[in-house]
Amino acid sequence: MASPVSSAPGGVAVVGSGLIGRSWAMLFASAGFRVKLFDIEPRQVTDALVSLRKEMKMLEMSGYLKGELGAEEQLSLISGCSDLREAVEGALHVQECVPENLEMKRKLFAQLDKITDDHVVLSSSSSCLLPSKLFAGLAHVKQCLVAHPVNPPYYVPLVELVPHPETAPATVDRTYALMRRVGQSPVRLLREVDGFALNRLQYAVIAEAWRLVEEGVVSPGDLDLVMSDGLGLRYAFIGPLETMHLNAEGMLSYCDRYSEGMKRVLKTFGPIPEFSGATAEKVHQAMCVKVPDDAEHLAARRAWRDGCLMRLAQLKHQLPQ
Ligand code: NAI
Repeated sequence: MASPVSSAPGGVAVVGSGLIGRSWAMLFASAGFRVKLFDIEPRQVTDALVSLRKEMKMLEMSGYLKGELGAEEQLSLISGCSDLREAVEGALHVQECVPENLEMKRKLFAQLDKITDDHVVLSSSSSCLLPSKLFAGLAHVKQCLVAHPVNPPYYVPLVELVPHPETAPATVDRTYALMRRVGQSPVRLLREVDGFALNRLQYAVIAEAWRLVEEGVVSPGDLDLVMSDGLGLRYAFIGPLETMHLNAEGMLSYCDRYSEGMKRVLKTFGPIPEFSGATAEKVHQAMCVKVPDDAEHLAARRAWRDGCLMRLAQLKHQLPQ
């Protein structure tokens, strides 16, 4: 059996250098951490280093690079690695970013379990795999948790921290502090739940959006406007609970005034949509009028979205909270 490697404080290992791994690497480097980037496909690491250089230089030129260090200094903190053991050596935190496949991730965590000591935090970027499935049977389960980012993590700071039932509170505390240190906005889930918090909220919204279109109440384009020119503007600054608090004379006043109306409307919500058939076709066609679904148009629209998110992030940073 392999012996544990040292985990003297200092660096972060990012395992998987795709979309999310690259973003994590930039975030950790922005706060001055040494980052070792590992991928099972060496070519991915090479490509990642090239694209990180391009992106960080571009961010620096446009004034949106995070952190106190310049792009060159941040880039010098990131190195590629072709060996997993070498990548995690000396790491205080390992951020796993391999594809969303339970067996693949379990295999990787079993490998990490063998080569890490009792101090490093083993963190998964999984969007929806439950910690009880990901980390079952690991000797270092107390050091494991999910830290689920939101795409693109560089511009959307939320990170959901989701523990396994046996995760040590200190593991969550350490990860919470690390996320704050790299400028992210961590939230703690006190226990695991399918979809975590973000996707449960998102799916509730998507389901009702779908039903409203399916039932012919509103067009797909207008439905999206309800969010982007209505609820979404408010939700970029305050959540649904604070919205209730502010929309009356405090929370209890809101419940007093509006709970009957809310319950009446909620009782009219339909079943879970199938997300297929004629409605899927109708929504697809409507979306393609605005953004054709070829790679070029989708990439251009994503770049526009990321630019908007970047400016919003900066505005939020400047405004009093
Ligand atoms: P991706 O497909 O862009 O990158 C995955 C990388 O992992 C690839 O470079 C692949 O070569 C590498 N890989 C595969 N097996 C490996 C192994 N055993 N060891 C090391 N590297 C390995 O995937 P993406 O989008 O970056 O997603 C990564 C994780 O982040 C997933 O769990 C995903 O659910 C989660 N996530 C993704 C979001 C998104 O919008 N893409 C948002 C939030 C979380």
